[in-house]
Amino acid sequence: MANKNRRPNNKFAKLSLNNKTFKLPIYNSTQGESVIDISKLHSQAKIFTYDPGFTSTASCESKITFIDGDKGILRYRGYDIEELAIKSDFIEVVNLLIYGDLPNKEQLIKYKKLISRHTLLHEQIINFFQGFRRDAHPMAMMVGVMGALSSFYQDSLDINDPHQRQEATRRIIAKSSTIGAMAYKYSIGQAFVSPKNNLSFSENFLHMCFSNTAEEYKISPILAKAMDTILILHADHEQNASTSTVRLAGSSGANPFACIAAGVSSLWGPAHGGANQAALEMLEEIGSSKNIKKYLSKAKDVNDPFRLMGFGHRVYKNYDPRAKILKKICKKVLNHVGIKNDPILKLAIDLEKIALKEKYFIEKKLYPNVDFYSGIILRAIGFPPEMFTVIFAIARTAGWTAQWTEMSEDPIQKIGRPRQLYTGNKSLKYGLKRSKKNTR
Ligand code: ACO
Repeated sequence: MANKNRRPNNKFAKLSLNNKTFKLPIYNSTQGESVIDISKLHSQAKIFTYDPGFTSTASCESKITFIDGDKGILRYRGYDIEELAIKSDFIEVVNLLIYGDLPNKEQLIKYKKLISRHTLLHEQIINFFQGFRRDAHPMAMMVGVMGALSSFYQDSLDINDPHQRQEATRRIIAKSSTIGAMAYKYSIGQAFVSPKNNLSFSENFLHMCFSNTAEEYKISPILAKAMDTILILHADHEQNASTSTVRLAGSSGANPFACIAAGVSSLWGPAHGGANQAALEMLEEIGSSKNIKKYLSKAKDVNDPFRLMGFGHRVYKNYDPRAKILKKICKKVLNHVGIKNDPILKLAIDLEKIALKEKYFIEKKLYPNVDFYSGIILRAIGFPPEMFTVIFAIARTAGWTAQWTEMSEDPIQKIGRPRQLYTGNKSLKYGLKRSKKNTR
């Protein structure tokens, strides 16, 4: 945030410290909060800022995704998510996120071909899978195989070559769905199903997961559209934990496959992408609407670690717009697969209704997030809960690669290196002090 020439400004914040005043430039965003540039603060005032969890810190400048958490707005490159979910498809959204504009018809056809050319995996990677335990979580396989791509595609590791950067991006997006489908097949003990490049991205993923060597999966347009919408809704979400992880890994110059593997790891946690699996498991544990009050009491109890999974968000202090879209799709998909009255969907709707009337959830502005309804849809399509976060990761390769590309092209990007508030020992003489216990 330090480039004076790039961002002329005439507004400053003043910081008074030890009888000195420091002028800190303020930069306006095109929409949303402005930022105070503190990048020179330490060199001038010998002090750091302290912000665990980065709740008040902008880590970069970005033109990709905009969120207004109070109003429940999400836009990719200026386009409302509601409109993209209805009118676009996943690969067009990938193109939009990475290149900044919606492609015309010819550009889109060409881009789809470019992506689908990369759906196959090197034969050695297929062997690589045999090293995993069959009962491994498919996210463990995603992390491992994504990182391993850097050993197979060595002609797209040069981060200073724009052509290689684009090639790596296309490989990551195309191969993530093949890796995800293979992780699923491996976990259920079935043979891998090869991609079919005449299918759309979402259709192909369903085909690789649900066809088998004896039987071709008949792709329903309703389920393929639901799958595609889920991918669009999860494609990017500005500087969340996994995207910041990708940017931080990338800032050191690490290769793109390694950076995306770091993002997959970060996404896995239950506070982030792992929440979709946790939300469905929670609904199954609650079991029936008559138990809702008991679980809400647990969620409100400060001494109980239980949280309502799929509820609450760092940025949205209103209904997550993605959850609204998914709630509608949920009913459509369940009707299509013949589940007229799904007890889990009924429970989710009842839980949402009751929670949103409770003082605790109103005061803390806790609303359903994207993970609350996505699991019900994915389960109806036929996926086990362990695959939910894998699907999130496949979708998010779009945002991760777009953000990584933006970072790589940013002339003021530096290695990410936060500082700390040190509260440990001052200088000690070796051996004078010994711990009574050697475990914690
Ligand atoms: N259930 C009960 N209480 C909650 C919940 C919840 N789901 N979420 C937040 N709270 C409470 C916290 O206990 C805290 O209370 P306090 O102020 O009395 O300490 C307050 O609301 C603020 O919560 P924080 O954890 O400080 O907020 P933060 O912005 O750090 O966390 C998060 C956001 C991690 C998403 C949180 O809401 C949560 O854990 N939700 C459940 C997990 C989940 O659904 N994650 C998916 C997020 S979306 C995504 O990553 C795609």
